[in-house]
This record gives sequence, structure tokens and C-alpha cells, in this order.
Amino acid sequence: MFGKKKTVPKIDKEQLEMIKYAEKRIKQKKRVYVHFVVFLIGAVFLILANTVLGIGKDFTIAGLNWFVIAIIFWLALFIYHFISVFITHSFMGKQWEEQQLETLVAKQQERIDTLKQKFLKEENEIAKSQAYNEALEQKQVSDQKKKTELTIIVAAGENNAIGKDNDLIWHLSDDLKRFKKLTNGHHIIMGRKTFESFPKPLPNRIHIVITRQENYKAPDGVIVVNNMADALDAARKDSQPFIIGGGEIYKQSMALADKIELTRVHHSFEGADTFFPEIDTSIWKETQRQFHDKDDKHEYTFTFLTYVKD
Ligand SMILES: NC(=O)c1ccc[n+]([C@@H]2O[C@H](COP(=O)([O-])OP(=O)(O)OC[C@H]3O[C@@H](n4cnc5c(N)ncnc54)[C@H](OP(=O)(O)O)[C@@H]3O)[C@@H](O)[C@H]2O)c1
Repeated sequence: MFGKKKTVPKIDKEQLEMIKYAEKRIKQKKRVYVHFVVFLIGAVFLILANTVLGIGKDFTIAGLNWFVIAIIFWLALFIYHFISVFITHSFMGKQWEEQQLETLVAKQQERIDTLKQKFLKEENEIAKSQAYNEALEQKQVSDQKKKTELTIIVAAGENNAIGKDNDLIWHLSDDLKRFKKLTNGHHIIMGRKTFESFPKPLPNRIHIVITRQENYKAPDGVIVVNNMADALDAARKDSQPFIIGGGEIYKQSMALADKIELTRVHHSFEGADTFFPEIDTSIWKETQRQFHDKDDKHEYTFTFLTYVKD
């Protein structure tokens, strides 16, 4: 009851067709053989019928006895039969060939379909992995951006004046203190002219100076770059690099910055030659403000204002 299951030999469709074809060929060849034997017997019979039994003894066609003509005719038939089976296969060859061709075409089609499916699957996987990589890259860029808060720090008059003759127009002690406090320990990015307006590099800050000059010489520790992208790259590890001016550099960094620390000096400075760009309040939102009054150390009233990009 629980004995071994009998294994049934499996023959595929193609093999079965081959067997059927081989059987047909054997039968055809047998028929040729039988035909030959019948022909020989028939020929002997015809000869005997004419010569021994005298059937149609005087009947001739074109000077030949009728049995000779009959044997030649029969021989021609036999030769045709022989050639058909052994040389042209015309009894079944064409049909079989067509069948084989159809099978072959169907098999090729099947293979093409499988390859198509495989190709589509692979294409899908490639597209998926590309989308994944792009998403990952975007995430890394946005993570990096989130980590870095590029901040503009500036003091500007009511008319946006920031300097004259490559120098500041006012001296406000608490503003300088705030500048030092905020930028302490960070990278400070500046234009060549602003850098040259300092008597010496500021302590405890990494200076990045932007210039178009190829061989600009700066003191040790000062990083010199030839464009804004390289300046940002040099400060990429800093969570809050500062853009500290002047006018040209502010203009170029407004679109890149995340934050503005502005000291608005409440006076309009005529005669200034350098200005801060207008702050577009549809882009920048004020988040903090702190008013500072006039006193002995401060000739003008001013307000510390913080803006972040909306
Ligand atoms: N009130 C404030 O808060 C404040 C702050 C900072 C400065 N300031 C004042 O601003 C004034 C200086 O500003 P500024 O506009 O005249 O000069 P700047 O912006 O300090 O420097 C301009 C120089 O930077 C280089 N530069 C600019 N864009 C560049 C780029 N895309 N690629 C390579 N190099 C580039 C060029 O240097 P090269 O000519 O060497 O090629 C250019 O001449 C001064 O009066 C200063 O006191 C005020």
C-alpha cells in the first residue's frame, strides 16, 4: 500500500514526434522493399505469361513485346517510388518539416517572451535602485543642509549703508561684542577687500578669503579660495559658517544663506559707498529683535534683528 510509487518515464513532445517520424520512415522503406519484391515477381509472371502461356504473343508496340513495355513502365514507377522515399522524402517530408519549423518558431517565441519578462524585471529593478540612489543623495544633501546653517552677519544703516573707503562708518562696541560672540570658533567667509580692512586676522576663527587673484598671499592659517562654492566647501564641516561681508559677497550669498543676523543702525548714512542688499520679507521672516539705546559708547540707537528663510 505504501510501496514505492512507479516512476513513469517522461518523453517530451519533441522526442515523441521524432519517434513517430522514425516509424513512418521505416514503414515507407518497407513499402519500397515490398514494391521491389512484387515488381520482381510481377515481371517474372509477365515474362512467363507471354513466353510460356503465349498470352498476347503477337501483340507488339513500336516493335517491342507488350510485356517488355509493361515491365519498363512498372520499373519506372518503382524508380519513382524509390527516389521519393530515399531522396526527396516527398511522401511526408514537407509536412514534417513544416511541423518542425512551427515547433521551432514557437520555441523561439517562448524564449523571446521569457527574455522580455527578464529584461522588464531587470529594467524595473535598475529604475528602482536609481530612484533609491537619487532619494538617498537628496536626503544626504538635505541632511547636510540641515546640519549647516549658513549665516550672514551684518550691520547696516537705515539706507542699507555698510561701509565707506573700505572701512566701517560707525563704532558700536556692543555690536562688535555680539559679532565676536556669535562668530567665535566658526568659519568666517569674506571678500578680499573686507579681509584687507582688518589690521590682522581675528582670533579663534577660521578665515576664508574669496579673491579672483590666482596667487593671493595671506597669512598662515587663512584659507584663500577663488569662488563662493569653494568657500562653502572649505566650511562644510562647520554647523554654522558665517558670511561676514562685504557688499559684493553679501549680494552673492543672499540666495545661499539660511539666516541673517542684522544690526540695524537707526541712521541714514549719506556718502557711503557700499551697501547691503534689500531684505525681501516675502522670503525672510524676522524671528527676533532687540533694541539698543544710545549711550556714551554708542553714538546711534540700533536693533539686533534675526531673520530666517521662510
Ligand atoms: N557693516 C558691515 O557689517 C560690514 C561688514 C563687512 C564689510 N563691510 C564693508 O564693506 C566694504 C567692502 O565690501 P566690498 O563690496 O567693497 O568688497 P568685498 O565684498 O569685501 O570684497 C570684494 C572682493 O572679493 C572678491 N570677490 C568677490 N566676488 C568674488 C567671486 N565671485 N569670486 C572670486 N572673488 C570674488 C574680489 O577680490 P579680488 O579683487 O581680489 O579678485 C573682490 O574685489 C568695506 O567698506 C567694509 O568696511 C561692512
